[in-house]
Amino acid sequence: MLKNKVAVITGGTRGIGYATVKKFLENGAKVVLFGSRQETVDKALASLKGENPEWEVSGAWPNLSKADEVAKEIELVKEKYGRIDILINNAGISDSTKIDDYTSEKFAEIMQLNVNAIMNSVMPTVKIMKEQGGGVILNTSSMVSICGQPSGVAYPTSKSAVNGLTWSLARELGPSHIRVNAVAPGITKTDMVAALPDEMIQPLIKAIPLRRVGEAEDIANAFLFLASDMASYVTGEILSVDGAMRT
Ligand SMILES: NC(=O)c1ccc[n+]([C@@H]2O[C@H](COP(=O)([O-])OP(=O)(O)OC[C@H]3O[C@@H](n4cnc5c(N)ncnc54)[C@H](O)[C@@H]3O)[C@@H](O)[C@H]2O)c1
Repeated sequence: MLKNKVAVITGGTRGIGYATVKKFLENGAKVVLFGSRQETVDKALASLKGENPEWEVSGAWPNLSKADEVAKEIELVKEKYGRIDILINNAGISDSTKIDDYTSEKFAEIMQLNVNAIMNSVMPTVKIMKEQGGGVILNTSSMVSICGQPSGVAYPTSKSAVNGLTWSLARELGPSHIRVNAVAPGITKTDMVAALPDEMIQPLIKAIPLRRVGEAEDIANAFLFLASDMASYVTGEILSVDGAMRT
């Protein structure tokens, strides 16, 4: 579905990002994954190459909060492949700080990575996509972007901002043939969720109409659809992949 497309995926070293990198490679894409440290990037690349040495995948570890570092790495991808067809802004951090324990620094830290950093990737990539006549930008939102959560106010706030960014960029960039969408996962079995004890997981599962938590691959499948030409008339959409749990 993505034969010879060039994709940049942030937060690609584990969890949803890693599953998406793998799914894209299986579907013929060339992928550059961004991680936070060389060590985790190398580990992810070794694992992917172990699965299939033919896969065209490489990695980088720019500080996503530094616009110049991100712009440099995006430019290197353009130099290497001549184009960038797909950008997935997936890196993110969650938070469960109670309001009495918040500091403005903590709030800003979550907003910085989950929102501001997305713009650092988007700005240089849009220039490239406009020059080449189009592209696809996808963001990882969250189920809590529409319903909030009981603590950690910065996290749902940041993901609501991701939705706003997605809707607005879709409208602004549509005339340049750049589609912009987001996937809003529900509870998804990444390292963080897998580490929760069974007594915490079981009540959560009861609240999910499909009666299971999501797998990282469920989210990767949604990204695959939105990135592919199958979604050629889909833009400005926040696709919930949450088993209909929206509380
Ligand atoms: N797992 C869930 O239940 C769930 C639900 C809704 C949304 N999400 C969103 O999905 C995305 C991926 O999360 P995940 O569940 O795979 O979590 P994860 O913690 O397994 O992966 C997070 C990824 O983000 C990267 N990252 C974190 N901090 C970074 C930083 N400062 N600089 C650069 N990269 C950084 C990590 O390297 C990692 O690759 C996030 O945006 C998260 O908010 C997850």
